[in-house]
Amino acid sequence: MKLFLDSANLVEIEEALVRGFVSGITTNPSILSKEEKGDYQKHIHKIIGLLEKYGVGIPLSVEVFTANPAEMIEQARGFMRAFDYPDLYVKIPVGWDELGVIHELRQRNIRVNCTCCMSVNHSILAAAAGASIVSLFYGRIKDTGQDASAVVRAAAEILKVGDVDVELLVGSIRHPSDVMEAFLAGADIVTVPPPILRQM
Ligand code: E4P
Repeated sequence: MKLFLDSANLVEIEEALVRGFVSGITTNPSILSKEEKGDYQKHIHKIIGLLEKYGVGIPLSVEVFTANPAEMIEQARGFMRAFDYPDLYVKIPVGWDELGVIHELRQRNIRVNCTCCMSVNHSILAAAAGASIVSLFYGRIKDTGQDASAVVRAAAEILKVGDVDVELLVGSIRHPSDVMEAFLAGADIVTVPPPILRQM
């Protein structure tokens, strides 16, 4: 069981790190856009500074911000150079052409968190293409009328079979009960926004 924090806010990140319950951080462009305007790279460096202050090996996910697959590969390589953080995961949204991006990054030893997965089949394809983390979006799956815990349970069972080296992360958490449901369904990691952590 690993709890991650779904935030790019420096105060919230430090509040969680100091309490010791967080073992990773996930960000995305929308989360980053809520922070002080300016150079996003400087902001990521500040997050990394906090992670290094509180421990070693704390995973950080940063998402590409282009829809073009070739540019995704270039951005991912740029993140690795610019941030020089050994526990960086590059978030690539799931998609047909994006599976090729995941495969290419795996070949280059860049770890991918395949994000925005909405189904078991998305999870299977992302893992098979070489993602190190597969992120299922709990709240958004619920919004489509599906049983999100059943989706997580099926994905967890399938991904644990065989020799696929992947962790199942559940994001898009909207209620404290989503966290419990996701872990009970077999999630390895649940990433939680700060207000929900406080409610927990
Ligand atoms: C996970 O890594 C994502 O950042 C996140 O949980 C997105 O979910 P939302 O867009 O539904 O808030």
